[in-house]
Amino acid sequence: MKGRQRTLAVYPGSFDPITNGHTDIIERGLKVFDEVLVAILVNPEKQSLFTIDERLATIRSAYRRNKRVRVDTFSGLLADYSVRVGATVIVRGLRAVSDFEYEFQMALMNRRLDKRIETVFMMPAERYSYLSSRLVKEVFQLGGDVGGLVPAVVERRLRAKYPRRPTGRQR
Ligand SMILES: Nc1ncnc2c1ncn2[C@@H]1O[C@H](COP(=O)(O)OP(=O)(O)OP(=O)(O)O)[C@@H](O)[C@H]1O
Ligand SMILES: [Mg+2]
Repeated sequence: MKGRQRTLAVYPGSFDPITNGHTDIIERGLKVFDEVLVAILVNPEKQSLFTIDERLATIRSAYRRNKRVRVDTFSGLLADYSVRVGATVIVRGLRAVSDFEYEFQMALMNRRLDKRIETVFMMPAERYSYLSSRLVKEVFQLGGDVGGLVPAVVERRLRAKYPRRPTGRQR
């Protein structure tokens, strides 16, 4: 094939904060696509721990050495955004059956909105199959150890948000 188009995959989410489940999916995406664009959804209605700028900086810092991973923010329709940036694929992670119904609905709606975009689902390593940003925040705030569940830069930022909470148990 002459001059094959580079495949760009958009990986959308809140990433509040990015976890090792997310990075697992990004790495799998990189095996299949030329570039992965991590797209942080700006949703003023959803309460967040980290600001959009903090999330941008965190993910950029985690991938500063990888030129095939880009980070951006978007609002509005994902299908419109994907076409605008020249992506042909939307990547989503599937953890358990519980993710399926919502993801199935979104994938079919996005297909209806724009037939040029395909949604691709990827399964994380089993050890991350129970992991979510919400759970990480909850465990950390209660003094639990999140080492090995989030990139080091996220652990540092969590500590900065909750200075008196050590990682380990509190007595
Ligand atoms: N541990 C994980 N393994 C595989 N995919 C994941 C994992 N965590 C999130 N994803 C996927 O990443 C995408 C973005 O998810 P999102 O930003 O909502 O993360 P989340 O961890 O579910 O956050 P929250 O707890 O705030 O809902 C979705 O496709 C989601 O299914
Ligand atoms: Mg979620």
